[in-house]
Amino acid sequence: MRQLYFALGLLFLISLIVQACSNEPKPTAKLEDEKLDSLDACATIKDPNQPKPMALMMRQMAANSDSMKAKISRGEVLDSLQYPFIRFYAVEPTDPNVLEPNFFEKARLFQAAYKALFQHPSEQKTYYNLMIQACVNCHENYCSGPLKRIRKLPIQ
Ligand code: HEC
Repeated sequence: MRQLYFALGLLFLISLIVQACSNEPKPTAKLEDEKLDSLDACATIKDPNQPKPMALMMRQMAANSDSMKAKISRGEVLDSLQYPFIRFYAVEPTDPNVLEPNFFEKARLFQAAYKALFQHPSEQKTYYNLMIQACVNCHENYCSGPLKRIRKLPIQ
């Protein structure tokens, strides 16, 4: 009887090991669709559990945009102190190949659009939408995955 238990135990163990080896680790399985999209298209993202500083800043920028959209929609005026510019272009990206002249040019245009938003307190809806367009303009060239999410950010 003990031998039978031992054999069954061994069999179970082997089946576990075989399963663990045949199943690719699926850390992304729990992420929502949006995240999956962004991981797919930014195929450069090697380890989603160890995001690079630029990826983390981008997440913050997306969260800030959500919050700006909500405030403008409520008729509130955005305070530049609450939304300092995030210098994402100065930190390490997942894929160092993005750091080329066209990227920095898109970043410069984005920064100008960001500044303009706070220089026009009475037209923030218009300038907010232009700022989001500058996110889109860069993402069409670099890392197209988050576009689905970014395209939901403009205020109608
Ligand atoms: C000048 C180019 C550029 C601009 C402008 C830009 N992005 Fe990005 N974005 C990138 C790049 C490159 C990555 C990939 C970063 C990485 O993986 O290190 C990225 C990644 C992201 C991600 C995925 C982050 C993750 O890994 O979870 C989101 C979301 C995002 N950006 C949203 C935005 C939003 C919202 C804006 C505007 C407010 C914006 N981006 C403006 C280039 C840009």
